[in-house]
Amino acid sequence: MDRIRITGGQPLHGEIEIGGAKNAALPLMASAILTPQSLTLENLPSVADIHAMGNLLAELGAEVKIDAVGRRVTISGENLTETTAPYDIVRKMRASVLVLGPLLARFGEARVSLPGGCAIGTRPVDLHLKALEQMGAVIELSGGYINAHVEGRLKGTHILFPMVTVGGTENILMAAALADGETVIANAAREPEVTDLARCLQAMGAEISGIGSDTLHVIGVKELKGATHSIVPDRIETGTYAIAAAITGGDVLLKGAEMANNEAVFGLLKRAGVDVISNDAGIRIKRQNGRIRGVDVMTEPYPGFPTDMQAQFMALLSLADGASMITESIFENRFMHVPELLRMGANINVHGSSAIVRGVGRLSGAPVMATDLRASVSLVLAGLAAEGVTDVNRVYHLDRGYERIEQKLAACGAIIERVSA
Ligand code: EPZ
Repeated sequence: MDRIRITGGQPLHGEIEIGGAKNAALPLMASAILTPQSLTLENLPSVADIHAMGNLLAELGAEVKIDAVGRRVTISGENLTETTAPYDIVRKMRASVLVLGPLLARFGEARVSLPGGCAIGTRPVDLHLKALEQMGAVIELSGGYINAHVEGRLKGTHILFPMVTVGGTENILMAAALADGETVIANAAREPEVTDLARCLQAMGAEISGIGSDTLHVIGVKELKGATHSIVPDRIETGTYAIAAAITGGDVLLKGAEMANNEAVFGLLKRAGVDVISNDAGIRIKRQNGRIRGVDVMTEPYPGFPTDMQAQFMALLSLADGASMITESIFENRFMHVPELLRMGANINVHGSSAIVRGVGRLSGAPVMATDLRASVSLVLAGLAAEGVTDVNRVYHLDRGYERIEQKLAACGAIIERVSA
């Protein structure tokens, strides 16, 4: 199995191009199910999860054409007739559950393998199912599958999510676009990826208002049409490379990055003593003289600090001057990177959903492995700053969400390579 080998200690200097957001692209691809016409998505990130979603849509009968460089996909749902998302695909990528709402809305039936728990928590989809039932779907769980059908069209209704769910909001938004009547989604997720989906649905002919707020109003239409949409820049890739610059004491321009969707992350980086400078080309990240200062972090739904940046920030704060408290409020099991950071010399104590990080003067390279995408990349970041060699195993996690990570970092002076076993 491939590994990423890093020899730490090189400050990063240069430019890193930020790609389109994986977590926006996945629901956007699923939204192609809603129309028999073609949906074209530009600024596509070329990562494994995108190819997995492409395979799932092809399995359902859609025509999926990704261009040679992986930047643009055109999906035609004209001959899409299959309504089953099989276990073998869903178990590899939980976001497959995003086909449930669109399949049910367009075809009146869907059979989707029930996603299991994963490395960061139990992650149920009960809120997706309850909301679809409120819209008139009959749902039965059997044989590990969600079997859903509806007589005629789904019905618009008032849905109040008891907690903020990104995927739940996306599934219901897509379903509501083709439902009969008005759907109100209260306590909706406000993540930029949800906003991007809503904008694309509008371009396809959906009637949505309240975009960007926690209450979405959707007036269902009988059919949606094709569209061309450019995917928002990836705020988590942006934040990850911002920390790569900060943790190595470097100076990097994140080309195409936007400040607007990332204020919680950049605000905290500034408080930790990092320069964040916005210009026409993107955002420049430069560490001020001296060590990073300890800061407290609490993950929250958007616009709060994103759970998908928690592990990377922990790597940074493990080298800070002073102590930091990191509280994870979204997922119950998202500290799997802690034991690996400890093996590199970090000083971290976990108490329930909080971790006390006492900054150390140096980390030392070690062989490490992680169980999910963001935990894996936090170990890459720690490796960039550590003394000596770090081997990050299970590279397939990184490949799910970071495009050409070793090339992007090497172009800024990191000593990093992919080693085949
Ligand atoms: C999305 O997952 C992202 N994935 C995750 O990114 C991200 O961490 C998460 O949102 C939170 O921001 C994609 O966009 C593909 P949720 P999602 O529904 O939609 C609970 C990454 O690294 N919940 O907002 O699955 C749930 O267990 C990934 O790129 C229920 O209890 O997250 C969690 O505790 C990892 N019942 C909380 O809500 C439900 O029916 C938030 O989950 C749904 C969710």
